[in-house]
Amino acid sequence: MCGAPGSGKGTQSDRIVEKYHLAHLSTGDLLRQEIATGSELGKLLDSFISKGNLVPDDVIIDILAKHIDSLDADCAGVIFDGFPRNVAQAEALEKMLAERNEATSVLLDLQVEHDELITRLLNRGKVQHRSDDNIDTIKQRLVVYEEKTRPVNDFYKNINKYQAVDGMGTMEEIFERIDSILKQF
Ligand code: AP5
Ligand code: MG
Repeated sequence: MCGAPGSGKGTQSDRIVEKYHLAHLSTGDLLRQEIATGSELGKLLDSFISKGNLVPDDVIIDILAKHIDSLDADCAGVIFDGFPRNVAQAEALEKMLAERNEATSVLLDLQVEHDELITRLLNRGKVQHRSDDNIDTIKQRLVVYEEKTRPVNDFYKNINKYQAVDGMGTMEEIFERIDSILKQF
């Protein structure tokens, strides 16, 4: 599940998990869990996240490999939410899965207008306390998205696994669009 900050990756992943009984791996959530423990690693992670920059790839790949191997062998599949975040992570994911005789099925790219992204994130900033939901950090997250994450779309287009999803509208409408794609798998 890919898309800019605030595009609805977490919201839609929760709905998909409910319907299809998949495991949900959000690298952002895993990083925030580590930060909440107050560990030294958490403090280091927050120094990247609160500025809107990506956490180094080796840290992410390490966290992810551990979680993939601890998943229930019977789970129907996995949604990666907010990962891969750059082309190096996409290559690492494909390699990691191939080594386990698994493969990705599809990249869903949630497309949302710029102003709507900012509105959603500022609204969430008023009720939740994420260190990155303030206007300066949101702007940097969007710059990083354009520079580092958007090229991941081309990576999946090249291997015929890319699907754009209109991410504007109500949560229900967007879920219907995603569901019509997922039914094919
Ligand atoms: P991450 O946690 O992945 O955050 P993000 O990409 O910035 O995206 P968000 O979680 O803010 O938004 P979302 O797309 O999940 O939308 P949501 O459903 O919450 O990453 C955070 C940071 O961690 C990164 O900046 C980086 O530092 C680090 N990181 C994470 N993964 C990494 C990786 N792989 N490599 C390196 N670093 C990594 O919706 C947003 C809001 O909008 C919510 O309040 C929601 O209720 C609302 N909303 C949702 N849908 C709608 C709708 N249709 N209409 C109105 N409101 C809506
Ligand atoms: Mg999220």
